Amino acid sequence: METTHRVFVGDSRDLEEIDDASVELVVTSPPYPMIEMWDDLFTELDPAIGDALEAGDGRAAFDAMHAQLDRVWDELERVLVDGGIACVNVGDATRTVDGSFRVYANHARVLEAFESRGFDPLPDILWRKPANSAAKFMGSGMIPPNAYVTLEHEYVLVFRKGGESRSFEPGADRRYEAAYFWEERNRWFTDLWTEVQGELQTLEFADDDLRDRSAAYPLEIPYRLICMYSTYGDTVLDPFWGTGTTTLAAMCAGRHSMGSELEAAFLDLFDDRIGDVPALSRSVGRTRLERHREFVERRRAEGTGFEYEADRYETPVVTKMERGIQLREVSSVGALEDGTARGYRAEHEPLSLE
Ligand SMILES: C[S@@+](CC[C@H](N)C(=O)[O-])C[C@H]1O[C@@H](n2cnc3c(N)ncnc32)[C@H](O)[C@@H]1O
Repeated sequence: METTHRVFVGDSRDLEEIDDASVELVVTSPPYPMIEMWDDLFTELDPAIGDALEAGDGRAAFDAMHAQLDRVWDELERVLVDGGIACVNVGDATRTVDGSFRVYANHARVLEAFESRGFDPLPDILWRKPANSAAKFMGSGMIPPNAYVTLEHEYVLVFRKGGESRSFEPGADRRYEAAYFWEERNRWFTDLWTEVQGELQTLEFADDDLRDRSAAYPLEIPYRLICMYSTYGDTVLDPFWGTGTTTLAAMCAGRHSMGSELEAAFLDLFDDRIGDVPALSRSVGRTRLERHREFVERRRAEGTGFEYEADRYETPVVTKMERGIQLREVSSVGALEDGTARGYRAEHEPLSLE
């Protein structure tokens, strides 16, 4: 099986290279409005944002930053298929502007934006992102009442385009082979993810400065979302591609991907790391299988049996739906000749257990 992965250097407020209704899943994390590291980027997109910040008008800056993201959400509405899902990772911002400290609720503003574009909000996920700064507690120390809670969570907002879920022909292989294990379902479909950082091995960055500027999310986040909300054969889009974590996850999960990113330097960084994708994908697949075997042992030790056997692995499974699971690994990655985008072609094989 082969998957393709295209990345466009450009502005996602206009995704002209991407056809209407050609994407089944969006997994992305935008620059967060009112987080200082993104002020310059937003000001380049709209100079009025810099003016509002300088004038001490936080609310106007927040609105103008979201107006830029709204243009990307318009494009997502165009390129997603009916029933397609958009997962948007976003955190709120706390900031003092003109002497006044407050929270800027990015998640609420993004939710409104999708809803007003006709998307149906689905239950969302909170994941814990511990702040590791020694000075993380803000306000007046140990004396009430003027201290503030530290934000240590982010949201994954989940939306479905159109009123109906996607439909498939009965018994579609690409869906059953992409099944997840019962105990994975139990962990992934909870609304509070506490253990997503450092869960999966990922690729190292050679350039620390770029890493600091990237605000990359842990591989586990897009990997889980892709496994949860797409099947083999689907295409996953990330319009805020950054270091390409979503594409890495799509490669590991055996899905096609597309991305769009303003900063060309991130694409070069990805090129440097691409040779390690086969080993990464094997490690991701084997980790899943090892965890499943540990689960089987625990369940048996508790005295609970299994009714079904996986077709392709020597392991029992809890439900009939899991029998067809086919994990895959990337055997090679090459360049995709394409006039419009940087592209990769990944060859996939059934996960090797040797
Ligand atoms: C929060 S980072 C995404 C990080 C990414 N999830 C990762 O794991 O590396 C947001 C990215 O969006 C890019 N970006 C911001 N506005 C953009 C736009 N209008 N078009 C394309 N890319 C944009 C930024 O350059 C930045 O790399």
